[in-house]
Amino acid sequence: MPVPDKRNELRRHFRHERNNLSQAQQTFASEQLLMQCCALTEYQNARVVACYLAQDGEIVLNPLINDAWLKGKTVCLPVLHPFCKGHLIFVHYRQNSKMQTNRFGILEPKLNACDIVPVAKLDVIFTPLVAFDDSAQRLGMGGGFYDRTLAPVTRHEIPLQIYGVAHDCQKVSSGLKNEKWDIPMHKIITPSHIYSHT
Ligand SMILES: Nc1ncnc2c1ncn2[C@@H]1O[C@H](COP(=O)(O)OP(=O)(O)O)[C@@H](O)[C@H]1O
Ligand SMILES: [Mg+2]
Repeated sequence: MPVPDKRNELRRHFRHERNNLSQAQQTFASEQLLMQCCALTEYQNARVVACYLAQDGEIVLNPLINDAWLKGKTVCLPVLHPFCKGHLIFVHYRQNSKMQTNRFGILEPKLNACDIVPVAKLDVIFTPLVAFDDSAQRLGMGGGFYDRTLAPVTRHEIPLQIYGVAHDCQKVSSGLKNEKWDIPMHKIITPSHIYSHT
């Protein structure tokens, strides 16, 4: 079977798995995930973090976002780049940010030039994913948005930490075959484990 079909088959399977979680399991998972993140010195020391608003069964980051706000960290969310197709911009997200729905039906802060945070200013970025393996490889929804946006920075020695976050049920039993454009995650964080890039 050609590689893209295999990736799409995995996406279908793991999207189904995460959507099957109950509301109680989702809530418990996001609280456990917060505890995992709070134990990481990279998160403790981070001044600017990029999160996302969950959809399609993705692990919910709202407890983490609230924690970051309480600790005075700057929280950013991804916004579809208005000119550069397939790329993301990170925008400062506040409790009173004006929001709008993008073409994928995902809420994002209204784009305002003053609120744009360059990727190089981020300390930690939490990316959603569809599936991962125990060497911290990431399979996304298939748009390649994070791959494109983060490709320039992963070629430089900058301290940005790129973490994938997911439910435990999103782990593949055998290794994912990554493609040359897939950006490596430093860690994958789940409610019960932290997997590091090997
Ligand atoms: N840095 C990049 N430059 C150009 N195209 C890219 C880049 N990264 C990914 N893509 C394209 O995006 C598409 C989706 O990437 P893929 O890794 O399968 O998605 P995802 O990371 O969301 O799982 C691929 O067809 C790939 O060619
Ligand atoms: Mg990819």
